[in-house]
Amino acid sequence: MGENMVIEALENVLKEALGTYTLDTVNVVKANRPDLCDYQFDGAFKLAKQYKKSPMEIAEEIVATLRESSYFEKVEAASPGFINMTLASTFINQILCDMREKSKFNLPKMEPSLTYVIDYGGPNIAKPLHVGHLRPAIVGESIKRIVSYVGHNVISDVHFGDFGLQIGEVIYGMQEENISIEDVTLEDLNRLYPQISKLCKEDEKVKEKCANITKELQDGSLEYEKYYQKIFDLSKKDIVRIYKYLDVDFDLWYGEMDARVFIPLVEEILLNKSLAYHSEGALVVDVYEDTDSKEMPPLIFKKSNGAYLYGSTDMATIYQREKDFQPDYILYVADTRQSLHFKQVFRASTKAGITDAHLEHLGFGTINGIDGKPYKTRNGQTPKLDDLFKEVEELFVESKETNKDMSEEDRRKIVGSILKFADLQNNREKDYIFDGKKFSDVVGKTGPYILYTYLRIKRILELEKYKGSKLGNCIYNAYDRGLRIQLLDFHKTILSAYRLRLPSVIATYIYDLCVSLNTFYQNNHISGLEDIEKKQNWLFILALAKDMLKELLYLLGIEIPSMM
Ligand code: ARG
Repeated sequence: MGENMVIEALENVLKEALGTYTLDTVNVVKANRPDLCDYQFDGAFKLAKQYKKSPMEIAEEIVATLRESSYFEKVEAASPGFINMTLASTFINQILCDMREKSKFNLPKMEPSLTYVIDYGGPNIAKPLHVGHLRPAIVGESIKRIVSYVGHNVISDVHFGDFGLQIGEVIYGMQEENISIEDVTLEDLNRLYPQISKLCKEDEKVKEKCANITKELQDGSLEYEKYYQKIFDLSKKDIVRIYKYLDVDFDLWYGEMDARVFIPLVEEILLNKSLAYHSEGALVVDVYEDTDSKEMPPLIFKKSNGAYLYGSTDMATIYQREKDFQPDYILYVADTRQSLHFKQVFRASTKAGITDAHLEHLGFGTINGIDGKPYKTRNGQTPKLDDLFKEVEELFVESKETNKDMSEEDRRKIVGSILKFADLQNNREKDYIFDGKKFSDVVGKTGPYILYTYLRIKRILELEKYKGSKLGNCIYNAYDRGLRIQLLDFHKTILSAYRLRLPSVIATYIYDLCVSLNTFYQNNHISGLEDIEKKQNWLFILALAKDMLKELLYLLGIEIPSMM
């Protein structure tokens, strides 16, 4: 079976049941009223118009044929012309058995397998990571895992920001304070960057000096290269540490500087194809299109002082990626506020013909505090990520007496789950409010709730020493049925999260699945059951749900602690 096993199977029987009626597309959807049926088909309304009959009459004709299929326990025409389908237990259980047996729960493999470069994280060298760097890391990591899970070849690249003014500022600061390359520390960098950046805003002369250092570095000054290398190493080490804490990892740890050598090549292409021209001393590329409704300024490739910019390094990086990987797609997980930048870069790159890849900017919104303003710590600062981790850990530990006895590693995983589930349950394009207290609670739509549910099921299976069994044909009650029906949505969920590049589709499914699981075991006591067959069937379902949950959590980048 293909794409979505259940829906596809239902659409196929429906196509046959249409008999002499023809419809362009046969669409079966999940029921609007799950209390009445599982799936529905609304095509009778369209057919009624085509064939000038009443929808109800047509629905009844189709239903008469559908009744012959073994897929349904019940199938009915409902006024004024809906077709309501309730799946047969045997059909549901057959699909669940296939899911249990096959790898990735029988998820159909994407054909053909394509090459994706995913650019996320994007931290800037010499600046400490703050709360604004959380989303590109969390959202990007999840999108990478999803794209890879459906069967594509994925290359992830952190794309350090290491080509900008901040490097010149820190070098300037080191020189001013006579700090040698050997002696400079991370603390120096963290102190110098804000200090000199503030000074640059107040003093034009300092700003010019810093800009010149940056420019000389870009042009290949060996002296500044040594500074740069040391600053890069110190800063990278710290960034890697923080990403490790979040379980975020990359295939490539490249930066803008790695694309530096390709800038002249891109520039040459732009000039040869007469796409770039001089305007007020700068070299620019027009990227507007007739259909643009908003203003679309040209991309500035080179400033009048000869310095290259964010757009130039991004184009050079596209050139490099094309050369190294010939990707089918390049995805950029970056702040929505950069959408103009990406539009310019994509258009200029397509015009220049430096890549055949589909280029997509996957934007994300801002993390706000409960006051609706960009998130601040208790003391009113924009928190560094280290401080945010500490703050969340404290909230979690305070929420329950025994939490403080957990191992450091478990606590790290729980902090990760709190931050990630709070983030990924939202459509990435939207801003969201991070309420640490709410999201560290074990009740609600939170990481701890999901982990708690998972660990509880795991515990049941361990206590029962469940080693596996065959699934029978029964479904015993509504809670049981609700859970099984929920499990059928796995494929649909993964594929739509992949297509839309939206981890939130998975997060929502995880939550719904956990709610079904909790209702299931609160109402069906497994431990005391004497009916062995029933017990084995239920354990089968729980084991399937548990393994699925584990995989889904992996796709969100959420790690599972040993206990809670
Ligand atoms: N370093 C950039 C920033 O902090 C984000 C980089 C996004 N990726 C890219 N290829 N432009 O805003």
